[in-house]
Amino acid sequence: MAKSQPPPQTKSHSKKSVIVGTVVALAGFLFSNRIPPNLNEYTICSKSGAIYTVDETSPQVKCFSVKGDRISDTGTLQEIQARRSEAVGLLTRLFGSPKVTIIDGNAIVVPGLTDAHAHIVENGFKMQLELENCKSISEVLDQVKAYILSHPEVHNDPSKWIEGFGWDQTRWSGSEKRFPAAADLDADPLLKGRPIALRRVDGHAMWVSGRALGLTHDLPEEVEGGLIIRDSKGVPTGIFLDNAMALVPVPAWTDEQMALFFDSTMKAALSYGLTSIHDADTTPAMIAFMKKQAEAGQILMRLYLMGHLDSDEYWGSEIPRLINYGKHGRMTVRSIKLYTDGALGSWGAALLEPYSDKPDTTGIMRSTPKALANLVERFWKDGWQVNIHCIGDRANHIVLDIFEGLIEGKSIGGTVKANVTEWRPRIEHAQIMTMDDLQRMKRLCIIPSVQPTHATSDMWYAETRLGPNRIKGAYAYKTLLRGSPHHVLPIGSDFPVEGVNPLLGFYAAVSRLSVDGTSPHGEQGWYASEALSRAQALKGMTLDAAYASFSENELGSLTKGKKADFVVLDRDIMRVPFKEILETKVLATVVDGKVAYGAL
Ligand SMILES: *[C@@H]1O[C@H](CO)[C@@H](O)[C@H](O)[C@H]1NC(C)=O
Ligand SMILES: [Zn+2]
Repeated sequence: MAKSQPPPQTKSHSKKSVIVGTVVALAGFLFSNRIPPNLNEYTICSKSGAIYTVDETSPQVKCFSVKGDRISDTGTLQEIQARRSEAVGLLTRLFGSPKVTIIDGNAIVVPGLTDAHAHIVENGFKMQLELENCKSISEVLDQVKAYILSHPEVHNDPSKWIEGFGWDQTRWSGSEKRFPAAADLDADPLLKGRPIALRRVDGHAMWVSGRALGLTHDLPEEVEGGLIIRDSKGVPTGIFLDNAMALVPVPAWTDEQMALFFDSTMKAALSYGLTSIHDADTTPAMIAFMKKQAEAGQILMRLYLMGHLDSDEYWGSEIPRLINYGKHGRMTVRSIKLYTDGALGSWGAALLEPYSDKPDTTGIMRSTPKALANLVERFWKDGWQVNIHCIGDRANHIVLDIFEGLIEGKSIGGTVKANVTEWRPRIEHAQIMTMDDLQRMKRLCIIPSVQPTHATSDMWYAETRLGPNRIKGAYAYKTLLRGSPHHVLPIGSDFPVEGVNPLLGFYAAVSRLSVDGTSPHGEQGWYASEALSRAQALKGMTLDAAYASFSENELGSLTKGKKADFVVLDRDIMRVPFKEILETKVLATVVDGKVAYGAL
């Protein structure tokens, strides 16, 4: 097992420089009688005591102090100052006191927020041509036209590919709730003849133009783990699902595009208080790009990448293993992402029984259980954390069978067992599960990595797809926590499928309401018994996400000795009415003790 070690920590002060510093400080003190300010240390206090630590030994504190890139103490200002003078003794005066910042009465501090499941580069890509607010096919066409008209290089070159993201036929009016077709794009004179590929909001379907269809060659009748939608005469209509999307020859992103997409997501994420992102499908090309950025010290927050290659052959040797890598030690690659099924919105989630609103299908599995089991076992043996996308109850069931086999030592001769605490396998989404599998998930200590905004986006059609019984095991976040031995429920957004702002997920988790305050069950929220408490939701976005990335000893709470990643919010999200959670502004985002967004 070739694990690369974290680079040796460079000490910011050698002994020699401390001595020199002391002499200089002493000289400064003697000659000017002025105490030099201490720039390496500071203390943050809240008048109301609204500093939420997510540390169960003291969940709320009045103050905490930061030294270098770590939390150096927590408590009241008096306690912190007393402990500091005791430790530093007479030298306290020579080094000056740390700056004390008292934050405004309504503002609070929480640990830096993590998005435990997102797609960084794709999000930047989406920001170019967003389609998710479109309420009809003609609004999509208008967006694409506006994009062409505002990009002369595209307007003047009809052979240039146009790529968009975010359409969702379930949000369109009446008769348009069907899948769209190439003919819809070709009906517009400005679009006709251009290669266009528009991804569905879940990333599991692609809608292409006639020209793009013309550029595909020798389309097969059947695609394993995918589907080409055809009309009654067998002619492709312009919709490709899951694995079939690979047949559309959209050009690969250039390094320049990748840099643009990456930067725009980083900027947005910091402005919303994210200090860490788990990227849920990082290709070797993206890893190579981010590795260079990390070496140059250009990565502004922590990145936990799940490597991915589209292949049923073992590909663990094709991605580098990196832990706390780069100039600031912020990039880690020790996990991989596998896929099982598609998504619920496009009837691609693999179900045990047929869809309630489409009885001719049970969804799509992208790999056979056997191929998947072989891959999982191989990755586990090679020391990779294995994170698997599972939406439907069939996908979840198959993957739990595979995990159970390894954890209980059934699949490899009954002798070697995977130690689940060391391996920490994750099911990404864990969206629709049978009641038995919800319990099995907990018994085996598999980590469910969930996205509460999926519940509130899907709630308008999920029960139509699933019927009144299966829906009870869907988006069942409270059930996943209740009685769970490790009590871990990392929370993510799956952006760009949902918004980047982590408070959208916090709001959805605690309210089970859409942003306008409604739900199919009214104002009390959709299946409100599955709502999380605010403390559970905050822990899901901090400490639980840290556990899911092997960093609970370094990140996830405001605890002495941990990295100083934190966020100042302008109001108390642990107390304000639901609606106000969405109005909350980030005043400062701090990574490694330094302000990365806003101001302290
Ligand atoms: C699994 O690993 C953890 C952490 O290394 C260890 O404490 C525990 O004893 C191990 N369990 C078994 C059954 O070996
Ligand atoms: Zn995802």
